[in-house]
Amino acid sequence: MDAKDTNKTLSNTTRRTFLQAGGMAFLGLTVPAHGRVARSLESLAISGGPKTVSFPSDRLDELTRWPRYGSAEKQAINELIDNNKFYDELPAFETEWKAYTQSPYVKAHMNGSSAITSMFFALDLPPGSEVMLPSYDFFSDALAQRFFSYVPTFVDIDPHTSCFDLNDAKRKLTRNTRALFPMHAWGLPCEMDHITDFAKEKGLIVIEDAAHAHGASMQGKKMGTWGVMGIYSFQASKCMPAVEGGMGMYQTREYYERAAAFGHYEDPAKFPADSPVHAYVDTGFGMKLRMHPFAAAIARQQLRTLDERTALVEANVRRMNDRLIQLPGLSEPHVRADQKRAYYYANMLLLDPAKAGFSRDALVKALQAEGVRVSVWVYPEQHKLKIYSEAKWWHHPPVIPSSMPGNDYINKNHIFMPLLYGEAPEVIDQNIKAFEKVWTHRSELAAL
Ligand SMILES: Cc1ncc(COP(=O)(O)O)c(C=O)c1O
Repeated sequence: MDAKDTNKTLSNTTRRTFLQAGGMAFLGLTVPAHGRVARSLESLAISGGPKTVSFPSDRLDELTRWPRYGSAEKQAINELIDNNKFYDELPAFETEWKAYTQSPYVKAHMNGSSAITSMFFALDLPPGSEVMLPSYDFFSDALAQRFFSYVPTFVDIDPHTSCFDLNDAKRKLTRNTRALFPMHAWGLPCEMDHITDFAKEKGLIVIEDAAHAHGASMQGKKMGTWGVMGIYSFQASKCMPAVEGGMGMYQTREYYERAAAFGHYEDPAKFPADSPVHAYVDTGFGMKLRMHPFAAAIARQQLRTLDERTALVEANVRRMNDRLIQLPGLSEPHVRADQKRAYYYANMLLLDPAKAGFSRDALVKALQAEGVRVSVWVYPEQHKLKIYSEAKWWHHPPVIPSSMPGNDYINKNHIFMPLLYGEAPEVIDQNIKAFEKVWTHRSELAAL
């Protein structure tokens, strides 16, 4: 349908038939790809019109509240206090996580960052080894490399997926590159088949950060199990929150034993006598990174309902996004048919201002005025932060790229809608109406 058809449709539509047809939702279906809608019934709230979203704020607070604990978590902690078997909780959680992720070896750690540091220790690469990772990433993936004299080598993210840009990695490959370290941002799986194929061809090691991606998989294989090692975080904001906590997954016994021995002094004694770390009984390698048993108890409860929770969040996202992505210039990060994504923190949508005809700032202001809880959050790009530019902190200074167009694109063009952890058709439909209303006023927004 082009602009001419749309104008005809609207001018042939009386106010009554328009409202019967679903008001703004109907208007949304008739928004032309280019040009102006001839007539809109309601002014934007930002221009003094009525607000679209009337859903009570306190109910929305409850729907979006995170983390969510209830009687199961309380009971688990109480039982632990009563039975005094605190440390039994750790192998119990490991066994369950191992089964869930189908990992040959797992180890619970104090948090995601300690699982990452242990993974770097397990890698055992020579000083100066380059480990490629996104700059659109959490600091511990890059900074913990300092302790092992590795060189964080920042690669871009793909603006369509917000994940590791393999083509950029190919361009930045040097004779010192030893490992690729993709991160599945916001629960979006990186293209691990391409990444592992390339690594194989070049003799590189692949490790993964799946801190955002609990329950996500690709070709039926959980994220964090594609690389030789992978980690999860169970920090309070994550999809499976235990307030603090982490997990490492290892494809070989050697990696597992080294990673475990780094921060778990009691483990070497448990390993067979032929283990290269068996001799380090009673010391490990100097760190103590045990997960708190209370956290493990909470994590076990959260794991039981993880898939159910993800399905509910996903159904809510689909109800909204399936309509929103019909709007010109609004899209979701690309997910392949053989990938199952998770949803961490927010429902990210991407605005192409050239196609939409207005800026992200204008959109956010207009939606917020309509009562939509939309926000933006700029991911700190690691390569721009002070610590990477100061040689005194590094045995081998990181490689600082001059530009990262993928990071820029995602940081400048995303919007975040809150994830809804309950049945919420009413607020979702009001949000859809607000977006569609805003799109009918595209020319007005262009001037904002
Ligand atoms: C991508 C990513 N990796 C690793 C971590 C570290 O996890 P933790 O906070 O449990 O140390 C985080 C934490 O936010 C993260 O976002």
